[in-house]
Amino acid sequence: MNEIKPEGLKKLYSCRIAGTGSYLPERVVTNTDWEKLIDTNDEWIVARTGIKERRFAAEDQCTSDMGTAAAKKAIQRAGISPEEIDLIIVATVTPDHIFPSTAARIQHNLGATRAAGFDLQAACAGFLYSMEVGSQFIATGYYKNILAIGAEKLTSITDMEDRNTCILFGDGAGAAILSRADSKTKGFLSCVLQMDGSKADLLQVPAGGSRTPASQETLDARLHYMRMQGKETFKCAVSSMVDCGRAALERAGCSVEDVKLAIFHQANLRIIKAVGERLGLKEEQVFVNVNKYGNTSAASVAIALDEAIETGTVHSGDKLLLVAFGSGFTTGAIVLEW
Ligand code: UT7
Repeated sequence: MNEIKPEGLKKLYSCRIAGTGSYLPERVVTNTDWEKLIDTNDEWIVARTGIKERRFAAEDQCTSDMGTAAAKKAIQRAGISPEEIDLIIVATVTPDHIFPSTAARIQHNLGATRAAGFDLQAACAGFLYSMEVGSQFIATGYYKNILAIGAEKLTSITDMEDRNTCILFGDGAGAAILSRADSKTKGFLSCVLQMDGSKADLLQVPAGGSRTPASQETLDARLHYMRMQGKETFKCAVSSMVDCGRAALERAGCSVEDVKLAIFHQANLRIIKAVGERLGLKEEQVFVNVNKYGNTSAASVAIALDEAIETGTVHSGDKLLLVAFGSGFTTGAIVLEW
């Protein structure tokens, strides 16, 4: 574990989530829809992944459109105006462009004219990374309101002919406003971020970057789409999420019994269950919506968090454990008091 203990860190303020929002595109794609397109079946998909359906963005809808829609709800629920946002962090592996940043597009869409911003790439752990980065600016008092977004149009990098991956992914966005904690809310209690770059080739988009720039050959070889070694990724996902989750609980001084709700990256129901069991959590403590949206990468935990709050599953004072894992291999965990 490449962990740095934040000993001696001076925190002036704690960080809390003041409002959340999410956006899912209208188009629902079921396993039966996939059966008509590739050699697969509902039984295999449900048994191996727990996914029943996912959402696909419209052709003319991009990542910043979905991020903007989620952000508008989060801003409204936090009771602030777009001009009060100091910083926008957009976690995504499917930015609108290589540059400018998706954050810049969203800043303009929202009219968040005072905000600085950037995109953050930590794959499926990106929303956890963006919240931790944001919380550091809150902790020092440098910024008051930060908009953290996880937004993905994964269908733009999915090989619709590769049955090993295409049935797994969906599009969507989630957002959170991070603000200073007040006397009523403790907010973030701990955070752990990890990375193992030695496994970077197991889950990647092989071409289109500076290592292998786009060419006719790379297009013909379909190298602009995601490639994943599923079994190896699965094993690393379970062990890293358990490690990271445990470390975050320990750092927060919490036991698994203290956790009201655990929200894990929604990649695969078997991963979610294995992580929950190994951490010693009961089934009812573990949130699941992978059946409805599939794997939405950086948007996954953000959408799930918003859904848990909107459905009244989380109440003031509840402790939440958030854990995500993705390409890199990156892992992040946060313990917070709502
Ligand atoms: O978000 C970042 C992290 N991502 C993850 O953590 C994903 C991790 N990996 C996984 O979730 C799983 O590995 C998968 C769901 C991708 C695959 O499940 P698996 O149990 O590892 O299956 P497998 O890849 O070993 O494939 C088993 C069989 C193969 O057939 P043979 O070789 O045993 O004859 C595949 O060809 O299932 C076949 N298969 C399919 N069959 C029907 C693979 N994809 C499909 C499909 N429909 N879509």
